[in-house]
Amino acid sequence: MFGAGYVGLVTGSSFADLGHEVVVRDVIPERIERLRAGEIPIYEPGLEKVVERNRDRLTFTLDVDEAVDGAEFLYVAVGTPPTESGDADLSYVWSVIDHLPETMVDRPIVVMKSTVPVGTGENVRRRLDVRGLTNVGYVSNPEFLAEGNAVHDFMHPDRIVVGAFEERDADRVVDLHRGIETEVVRTDVASAELVKLAANAFLSTRISFINEIANVCEFVGADVVDVARGVGLDHRLGPHFLKAGLGFGGSCFPKDVTALKQLAGNSGYQFMLLQAVWEVNELQKRRVVQKLTKHLGPLQNKKIALLGLAFKPNTDDMREAPSRVIAYRLLSEGAEVRAWDPVAHPADLPGIELCDSVLDAVRDADAAVIVTEWPELATLASREVHDAMARPVIVDGRNLLDPVAAREAGFTYEGIGRPRHASPPDPSRDRKPERRS
Ligand code: UDX
Repeated sequence: MFGAGYVGLVTGSSFADLGHEVVVRDVIPERIERLRAGEIPIYEPGLEKVVERNRDRLTFTLDVDEAVDGAEFLYVAVGTPPTESGDADLSYVWSVIDHLPETMVDRPIVVMKSTVPVGTGENVRRRLDVRGLTNVGYVSNPEFLAEGNAVHDFMHPDRIVVGAFEERDADRVVDLHRGIETEVVRTDVASAELVKLAANAFLSTRISFINEIANVCEFVGADVVDVARGVGLDHRLGPHFLKAGLGFGGSCFPKDVTALKQLAGNSGYQFMLLQAVWEVNELQKRRVVQKLTKHLGPLQNKKIALLGLAFKPNTDDMREAPSRVIAYRLLSEGAEVRAWDPVAHPADLPGIELCDSVLDAVRDADAAVIVTEWPELATLASREVHDAMARPVIVDGRNLLDPVAAREAGFTYEGIGRPRHASPPDPSRDRKPERRS
C-alpha cells in the first residue's frame, strides 16, 4: 500500500482484516513512527481497533523495496490534490510508478485507489511499458469511503468497481475482496476512473439542488425538510444526500467536481451543470452572513459563535470545510468569531478564538451558528445556553434542531429553508439588554 493517509490506512488495515499481509509505505517518517508505535494519525472511528487486531499482518515502512518485496498487489493510495489550474497533481502517483524496482514477483498488479483523471491508467500503462515493466498489471479500483464511516464502508460497500486492461488482472483484484458480499462492476480502466468522479459529482449535484430548493423555500414559505422527504420517498430518487445545509466540503466533493469539470473542459466539452453546482455551493456558505444580518443588523463588533468546524461530524478533517469560508466572511464583516469543535482544533485559523466548550463559545455571543451537526449540539437550545448568550439567536446551518422546540425555549431560530419556523426579523426583540454592560 503506497500512502498511509486516510484511504491507505483504512484500505490497508481492512485488507489485513480480510486475512491478507499488508505493508503500508509512506514518505513521512513521523507518520510511520507513530503507526509503528500503535498510534493512528487520523481521526476515524473504529480504525484503531482494526489496526490493533491486525498488528501481525500489518507492517509500516518508509522503504519502497520493503513494500514491493514479494508483493502481488501494489496499491496506490497517495494524494492527488488540485493544482493552481484545477487539474489533479499526479506527482505522487508518478513518484510511486517511477520508484518501482525492476525485479518484482511475477506479474504484480498496480491497483489505483487514488482519485485520478480519466486517462491516467493509460498513461501509467505506457510509462510502465517504457520502463520495461510489461509484466506489471494495472487495475483501477476506486474507493467510495465516506469519512467517519469508512471502516464500515470498506466491508459493506454498495459495489466494487474494477477496471482493467486484462481480464486476468481484474480476476485477481476481485478475488482479493473475497469475504465482502456486494455487486462487482467490471469494466475498462477509463470507465472505472469516470465512475468515481461521476458518483461524487452526482452526490454534490444533489446537495446543491436541495440547497437551491431550500433557498426557494425561504422565498415561498415552504419547509425544505418536508419537501426533501416528499421528494426522497420516490423510489426513483431516493432519500440520500437531500439534506439542505451550508454546503458540502471535504477532501472529495469540491476536488472531484472541479476535476470532472476540468477534465470535460480539457477534452473540449463545457460541463455547465457542474459549474452551477460549484457556484451554488460557494454562495450557500456565504448565506450565513445574510441570515445573521437579518437578526443582528450590521455585524461589526458582534460576537458570533461558530459551532462545529470539521467539514462534517465524526471527523477532524478541515479540508474545504465550509467553516473556513464562514469564519473569514464574518471576520471581514467586523464580527468577533469564537469557535468550538469536539475534535477539530485547527492551528491555521488566525483571528478565530478556539474554545474548549460550547458554553465558552456562546458566552455573551450575539448569535450561535451550527456549522457542523455534531450530536453534542442537538441540545443547544437549552436554558444554560440561553442564559449565557447576549442574544438568544441560533442560525442552524444544518437543520439539526427542532425549530418549534428551539423557539419555545426562547431562542430566535433560523434554519436553512425553513421559513415557516423562522422568527420575524426584529433585532430589538432579540436583544437581552440586561446582560450587556
Ligand atoms: C464523500 C463520498 O460520500 C465518498 O463516497 C467518497 O469516497 C469521498 O467523498 P466524504 O467526503 O467523507 O465522502 O463525506 P460525505 O458524507 O459524502 O459528505 C460530504 C459533504 O457533503 C459534507 O460536507 C456534508 O456535510 C455534505 N452533505 C452531505 C450535505 O450537505 N448534505 C447531504 O445530504 C449529505
